[in-house]
Amino acid sequence: MPWQAALRSFASLRTTSSSWAKLRPMKEETYRRPTAGDHPPNLSPDYKSTTGRAPAKPAIALPHTLSEITGPLLQSERLDAHENDLTRQRMAEPLGERIIVQGRVLDEDGKPVPNALVEIWQCNAAGRYHHPGDQHDAPLDPNFYGGGRARADAEGQYKFITIKPGAYPWKNHHNAWRPAHIHFSLFGPAFATRLITQMYFPSDPLLAYDPIYNSVPAGARERLQASFEMDLTQPEWALGYRFDIVLRGRNATPME
Ligand SMILES: [Fe+2]
Repeated sequence: MPWQAALRSFASLRTTSSSWAKLRPMKEETYRRPTAGDHPPNLSPDYKSTTGRAPAKPAIALPHTLSEITGPLLQSERLDAHENDLTRQRMAEPLGERIIVQGRVLDEDGKPVPNALVEIWQCNAAGRYHHPGDQHDAPLDPNFYGGGRARADAEGQYKFITIKPGAYPWKNHHNAWRPAHIHFSLFGPAFATRLITQMYFPSDPLLAYDPIYNSVPAGARERLQASFEMDLTQPEWALGYRFDIVLRGRNATPME
């Protein structure tokens, strides 16, 4: 798993090197870069904004240095109560369908990865973000901010309580609607270990028409769909969805 391997690598350097000069630049592998194949390409013409922002030249690989290893360290970031409960951050409960989103952060062997900082952001039940840039003609909900954070525990488990986001139009093409989705960001111990992706809901009919979802290679994009789980569903209260996030390997969750 990338950041654990990185820390092991760094630890071995610390014990075998007697000077900072030996540590810079770091020759040994630090955080591994994502492998090609399961992740969406930078340029996906049907996803029109990528034509303007995709790099025209090959990426230049910069060696990682101590700054990527030593800080900032987000493992000690303290979270406030209710940061993982998006239904209890304002004066009253937001409108919409209350849901539970729960899962584990896993490595390529299916082993839990502890302590990741998991962040989410999403639109409200009507399909509108709490952001001035969103001018969709749908109501804002004063009781829904749409952002949350959770810390994965020792077993890699994280949990959010939120409301099911609505579909929204996005003008990528005629009659373009994003399927309901929740944006995810994961931090390991440092900024260099940030991964970003989107979670979708199972069997959403809009998935077939979404250029962002379909920019992910077939066979991998299905991993972005959460599964409905009766075991996570709480009687008289909320439906439960599972979304496990695999950091790399053949079952890696596609990342943006
Ligand atoms: Fe979105």
